[in-house]
Order: sequence, then C-alpha cells, then structure tokens
Amino acid sequence: MSTRSSTADQTVLVTGATGTVGRALVASLLAAGAPVRAVTRDPLTARLPADAEVIRGDPNEPGTLAGSLDGVTSLFVNPAAAGEFTGRLLSLARSRGVRRVVLLSTAAIRDKAAWDTDPMVFWHRLIEETVTASGLDWTILRASEFAANTLTHWAPGIRAAGVVREAHAMAASAPVHERDVADVAARLLLSGAYGGATFTVTGPESLTRRHMARIVSQAIGRPVRFERIPREGAVRHLMAVRHLPEGIAESVLRLEEEAAGRPAFVSADAERITGRPASTFARWAADPPPSLFTTSRTTSTGDQKTPCKIAACLVGSRMCKGNGSLTVPDRPAARSGR
Ligand SMILES: NC(=O)c1ccc[n+]([C@@H]2O[C@H](COP(=O)([O-])OP(=O)(O)OC[C@H]3O[C@@H](n4cnc5c(N)ncnc54)[C@H](OP(=O)(O)O)[C@@H]3O)[C@@H](O)[C@H]2O)c1
Repeated sequence: MSTRSSTADQTVLVTGATGTVGRALVASLLAAGAPVRAVTRDPLTARLPADAEVIRGDPNEPGTLAGSLDGVTSLFVNPAAAGEFTGRLLSLARSRGVRRVVLLSTAAIRDKAAWDTDPMVFWHRLIEETVTASGLDWTILRASEFAANTLTHWAPGIRAAGVVREAHAMAASAPVHERDVADVAARLLLSGAYGGATFTVTGPESLTRRHMARIVSQAIGRPVRFERIPREGAVRHLMAVRHLPEGIAESVLRLEEEAAGRPAFVSADAERITGRPASTFARWAADPPPSLFTTSRTTSTGDQKTPCKIAACLVGSRMCKGNGSLTVPDRPAARSGR
C-alpha cells in the first residue's frame, strides 16, 4: 500500500457498503487513510463507521449518486447492489471524472463450461464485460465462495439442532475471508498499478463441506453433526435462506455437484497483492463470528432486507423464465486480453 499521505488524496466510493465485503472494505480503506464515501439505501440502519461519509443512494438508480461521484478517484462496484445498472453507473462515474473502477466478481467464471449454462456465471460475465468496456481504468476481483455464506446457510441449523445439512459432503471449495477480499480490493482501488488486470482471491486451502463443518464445530466448541440431505431439500434450503428462485438454486447445486471429489482452485493472488497469506477457514470461524453460529441475533454480514439481486435481475430476463428455470442466453462477444 502506498503512503497515507497519497491515499488521503484518493476518495473511494463504495457500493454495497453495508454488505459482507463492503463493511470490511470500508474499514480497510479507512485504515489506509483514504476518504470513503459509503453508499447505502438506508443510512439510519446502516451502522457505518463515523469516519466514513455515508451516502444515501441506490445504485439501481445511478442518478441518486450523481453528486456524490464528484471528486471520487475510484469506484467499487458490488453486483449485489448495482446489478444490471452497472453500465449506467459507470457512464455517470466517467462523466463525473472518476478514473478507476474495481468490480467484485465471482471465481466461478473460471469454469468456461458454465459461461453459457449457469445463470449466475453468465450474469457476472455480463457485468464484467460492462466494466471492461467502460472506458475507466478497470480491475476485476473474482472471489471464491465467501466463508460468511456459512452464517446464512448453516447457522440456523447449528443453533436449532447442532446440525449442518448439505447435499454434497465432498463438494470442495476454498472459502475466502471477506476481510481478505476487502484488503485486496482496497489495494486495487488505491493503486494505479493494477489497471486492466483480473485477480482471483480464494482461501488458502481446498476444503470439503464435511471438513468445514468440523472446523465450525471446533470454533464454537460444540458438536456439529453433518447430515446429507436429498438434492431437492438442499435446493429448497437455498431458496429459503438466499431468496433464490428455483432455477438459480438448482444452478448453485449443480456447481457443488461438479466440485465434489476434486480439489478446489486455490489462488495466491491475495498474498501477491497484500503481502500476507489469505486467512484459513479455521481463522475465519474463530475470528469474530463463532457466537453468530450459536446466538439468534441477526448476523452482521450480508443483506437481510432485500431478495438476492442476481435472482431479481435474472427472473423475467432472457436468462431465466419466471420460475427461475434457465434459458440459454446469447453470450456477448468475447473480448481479447482477459
Ligand atoms: N456469496 C459468495 O460466496 C460470493 C462469492 C463470489 C463473489 N460474490 C459476489 O459478491 C456479491 C455479494 O457481495 P456481498 O455479500 O458483500 O453483498 P451483500 O451483502 O449481498 O449486499 C451488499 C449491499 O448491497 C445492497 N443491496 C443488496 N441488494 C440490493 C438490491 N436489490 N438493490 C440495491 N442494493 C442492494 C445492500 O445495501 P443497503 O441495504 O445498505 O443499500 C447490501 O447490504 C455477489 O453479488 C457476487 O457478485 C459472492
């Protein structure tokens, strides 16, 4: 990271600032000495740090952010917040003098076979294409599965019955600590050295679902039973906890099926950029959240208020029928250099 005096000259506008990555990113940018404009639709409930300038706005209506983009050096785009309005937001940002954009995307894009068949992967590709064509100095930050997903997926079952229910015990992933994603994003936003590049940030190890459940059990000091459930049950569970339509939940399960029995991709990009190794899942589980698995208060991560943006974007679009079942879309022309 460059010196605090140079970061103090760079104002960063963060969309999705109250989310899993956004909160950690706001903290990371402030720690680096950068002025931060943190966007939320509801400042009254946002609980953002006093040192951040809280911006009331909705990336779905980019015009609500117009004045707040003046004087901004770098923009962080979270697809959960900006979604299909990313293009309009970026045009506005460019017209207001913003130079740099960092997009949060997904490591699932690495699987080219899923480009045209998986709605979530396709959706992220569309947004990546929009960002790389924006005329801004762009960097793509693809993240693996968030470790924090276990709070929404697993915590209710652990609290109620000490059980984790999953369809695929051997599905492997490299769950990433949201703070690592945020720390990498902060460096990309504050440095001019990463323009035109795509990075993938993952946790440091490939873990099966069963192994992750064991790690959570150790972190909270309670037995956690792993229970395999039929695929249909897992789809219904995902639909309930993540507000996903059926077709999208199906595609998540399909990705898990494909991840069963083979190690997950592990990237060294986090260490390359931050200079320290990515946090293990055990470290994440023992960090702030163990009590979140065992007490029934609202989690401090994630958006609990609105349905999943991906689902909202895809349902009714050419990518999904009304019930969320998949239609194969026309893929935008591939760009070179990616
Ligand atoms: N979950 C994963 O495992 C994973 C893995 C790789 C990549 N990703 C990427 O990360 C993104 C999610 O990041 P996150 O978990 O940090 O975000 P998040 O917590 O789901 O949402 C971030 C913030 O965006 C705002 N928001 C949510 N839905 C909105 C909507 N429909 N319209 C307008 N604003 C909305 C909310 O802020 P306010 O209510 O304060 O306005 C929310 O707090 C995904 O979309 C994906 O692109 C996720």
